[in-house]
Amino acid sequence: MKPPKRHGWNTPVTAVGPQGGAMLRSIKGITSDPLTYLESTWADFGDVVQFPIPKPATYLITSPEGAREVLINQHNETSKRTLQYNNLSLVTGEGLLTADTQAWRPRRRMLQPAFHKEMIALSEHHIAAGLAKLDNQWVELTSVGPAIIDIDHAMMSLALEITCGALFGIEVDDDVDEITSATLIALHGVVARARNPISLPLAIPTPANLKMKRAIKRLDKAVDAILISRALNQLPDQAPIRDMLDVLLDPDLETPLTKQQIRDEIVTFIVAGHETVASALTWAWHLLVTNPDEMQKLKRDPTRAQLVFDESLRLYPPAWVITRRTLSDLTVDEVLIPANSLVIVSPWLVHRNPKAWDNPNAFIPDRFLAGSPQLGYIPFGAGARLCIGKEMARLEGSQILAHIAANWNIEAIHTSPVPIDASVTLRPASGMPVRISRLLN
Ligand code: HEM
Repeated sequence: MKPPKRHGWNTPVTAVGPQGGAMLRSIKGITSDPLTYLESTWADFGDVVQFPIPKPATYLITSPEGAREVLINQHNETSKRTLQYNNLSLVTGEGLLTADTQAWRPRRRMLQPAFHKEMIALSEHHIAAGLAKLDNQWVELTSVGPAIIDIDHAMMSLALEITCGALFGIEVDDDVDEITSATLIALHGVVARARNPISLPLAIPTPANLKMKRAIKRLDKAVDAILISRALNQLPDQAPIRDMLDVLLDPDLETPLTKQQIRDEIVTFIVAGHETVASALTWAWHLLVTNPDEMQKLKRDPTRAQLVFDESLRLYPPAWVITRRTLSDLTVDEVLIPANSLVIVSPWLVHRNPKAWDNPNAFIPDRFLAGSPQLGYIPFGAGARLCIGKEMARLEGSQILAHIAANWNIEAIHTSPVPIDASVTLRPASGMPVRISRLLN
C-alpha cells in the first residue's frame, strides 16, 4: 500500500514510516520501552523514517552518514529548539547544553579553556580522591565478607564528587545523595513531560510539577552552596584561573555573566557532567560481569580500560537520542527533510548499524584497538556541539574501571536481563545490584 502524501495539517510525506493507526496502537510501547520501538521502526522502514506526526514533521535518522550530515555538515541549518531541549531547559535554563546557536557560540568560546589538557589532567587528582574514598567505604562494607551493593548508586556518587571537585573545587561529601537524587527527580520530570503531550506549564501546581519544582529548588540550593564555598575561598587578585567556576565568575570577562547565567551553567555542568558518566560506568560493569572473559582480561591488563569504556559507550550510549530542528530544507540520505522538522538521531541505533559495525550487538572492546571510527560512533555527539566534557569523561571512565577492576571482584547477582529505563540517560530500571569482594594481591 502506498503511504499517504500528507500527514494532516498539510505536512508532506517525504520518507517511509509507520501509519498513524499503527503508531497510535504502539503508544504504550513507545512510552514504556522506547528503545525497542525505535529498533523495530528501524527494522521495518530503514535508515530514514518519517513518523506520522503532523507538527512538527518528525524523522528518525539511523545511518552513520545521515548522523554526520545532521550533526556536522548541516550543523548551521539546525537548531536545538526541540521538545527534548526545551523541557531540559526547565531544569538547566539557558546553559551551554540547551542554549541555541546565538547564545551558545560565545559561551562555548568562553568555557572551552576550562577543558584544556592541563585542566583535564587536574581532574586526575579528584578521580584518585574519589576512588580512595570509595575503597574505604567498600573495605568497611566487606569487612566480614562479600557485600551486595547497587553499583549504579556507587557510580552516581563517585561521578558527582569528581565533577564537583574538578569543576567547582568543592567537596560535596554529605550532600551527595541530596544532589544525585534531585538530579534524577528533575530529569525524570523532564522525560515525563516530553512523553506526555498534554503536560501543563510548570507554574501550574500539579503533583508532578510540584515534585519537579522541589527538585529544581534542591539543585538551586546546591548552586548556592558552591558559590558560598568559592566566596569563602577567594584567591588573591591575579591568581591563575583554577577551574571552571573561576571562568564563570571572572569579573574581567568582556560581558561578565549574570547571576542567572552562572546558576544555569553550574546546574548544566552538575547534570551533564555526572549522570552521563555514571550511566556509562554502570553499563560497563553490567557488560563486564556478563562477559567474564573480558573482566579477566581487564584485571590482567588494566590499560584495557579505555577500550572497555569506549565499547560500553557504543552499546549503551547514555545520550541515546540527540534532537535537532531543521532551519531550512535539508537532504539526508537522499531524503528531503523540510524546514522546521524535528530530526531524531539515535546513537543507540547508529551504534548498532551494520553499515558501520561488524557483529554490532556483541561486546568486543578490541574493536577500538585502532581508535574510534570516523563514522558511526557518536556517544558524545559530533561537530560543533560535540560534548565539551568528552576527554574528561573518557579519562574518568577508564581510570575508574581500571582501578576498581584491579582491586575488587565484581560479580553479577542477576541472571535475567537488566531492564533499561530510557530516561534522559540510560538507567537500570531498578538499580544494578552486584556482589563485591576485596581482591587480595
Ligand atoms: C560518558 C559521559 C558523557 C556523555 C555520553 C556525554 C554526551 C554528550 C552528548 C551526546 C552531547 C551532545 C548533545 C547534542 O549534540 O545535542 C553532549 C554535550 C555536552 N556535554 Fe556531555 N557527555 C558526557 C560527559 C560530560 C561531562 C563529564 C561534562 C562536563 C564536565 C559534559 C558536559 C556537556 C556539555 C556542557 C554539553 C553541551 C556542549 C555544547 O553544546 O557546546 N558532558 N554530551
